[in-house]
Amino acid sequence: MNNPQLNKKGELQHLLSTEGLPASIIRNILDRATSFVATAEGDEIKRVPLLHGKSVFNIFFENSTRTRTTFEIAAKRLAADVVNLNIGSSSTSKGETLLDTVDNLCAMHADMFVVRHAQSGAAHLIAQHVAPEVHVVNAGDGRHAHPTQALLDMFTIRHYKKEFHNLRVAIVGDILHSRVARSQIHALTTLGVPEVRVIAPKTLLPSMVEKLGVRVYHDMQEGLRDVDVVMMLRLQNERMQGALLPSAQEYFKYYGLTQEKLALAKEDAIVMHPGPMNRGVEIDSSVADGSNSVILPQVTFGIAVRMAVMSMLAGAK
Ligand code: CP
Repeated sequence: MNNPQLNKKGELQHLLSTEGLPASIIRNILDRATSFVATAEGDEIKRVPLLHGKSVFNIFFENSTRTRTTFEIAAKRLAADVVNLNIGSSSTSKGETLLDTVDNLCAMHADMFVVRHAQSGAAHLIAQHVAPEVHVVNAGDGRHAHPTQALLDMFTIRHYKKEFHNLRVAIVGDILHSRVARSQIHALTTLGVPEVRVIAPKTLLPSMVEKLGVRVYHDMQEGLRDVDVVMMLRLQNERMQGALLPSAQEYFKYYGLTQEKLALAKEDAIVMHPGPMNRGVEIDSSVADGSNSVILPQVTFGIAVRMAVMSMLAGAK
C-alpha cells in the first residue's frame, strides 16, 4: 500500500502519523534520538550541524508551548535556520489560503515545515502539495495525530522500562478528542506492547475504539491495576461540543489520578502527561510532582526525538 510518509526507497519523507509507520523506522528514530540525548541533556549544548544551510519553518495555527519550542531548539541544535511564522500577524488573517501561504514560504526556500493546525489532515495536504525535496512534520492536526509527541513518549517509556514486549500501558482521559492518544496507541501496538488499556467515561471514547487493539475500561481503579505506565490526558474542552461531562470536580473524582489510585498500578509505574496539564482536573499535584512522574523528562527527551526526526528527514533523498 502506498504510504504518503515514505519515499520510493522506503525512507521517511514526511512525518504525518504513527499509523502505518513501520516499527523499523520508529526504532531507528528512537536509536538516533539516544545519540542526541547527551547533546540535549548536557550542560554544554553541542551543535550537530546535520541541517546546516537548511531552513525550517514552524507554522503553528494553534497554540503550543512544548512542541513549538522544542522543535525550535532541536532545529537550532542541528544548525538549521529557523523561522517561526507568527500566524496572528501573518496574511492568513487577510484570507490567504493555507496552500498559498505554503507556496510563498517555499518561494523563500523552505526545506522543512513543522505544522500544527486545528483541521485534521492539514499536514497531509501540505505534504501532497510541496516539491519532493521539501519535508513536512505534523506537529498536531485536529483530533487526528501528533506523531512526535507519541515518539517522545515511546522514547521515555523505553528509557525507563527498557523493553516494550512486557508492558501493560494505560491511557486515561479524553481519548475521543485526543490526537495524542491515537498516535500513542498506533506506536505502542506497532512496537509490540501486549496490553494497551484505555480508561475513560463512555462519552469520551471514540466508537469502536477496541478496533485499534486496546482494552476498554470505564472504572479507573480496575483499569490501573498492575500497569507499568500511566499516560494521562487533558480534557480538551475546546474540542467538546455540548456537555459530555457533569463537571470538572465529578471528572476528577472518577478519572483524576490521585496517589490512592496510582497505588493500584505497579510500584515502579511511571506517570506521563503530554501537557498542558490541568492540575486538580485529570491529575493531582502530588502525583504530577511525585516520584513516579516523568512528565518533565518527557519534555527534555522531546528535543532529542525531534532532532532525530528532522535529521532523518533531511537525509532522505
Ligand atoms: N504536548 C503538546 O503538544 O504540548 P503543546 O500544546 O504545548 O505543544
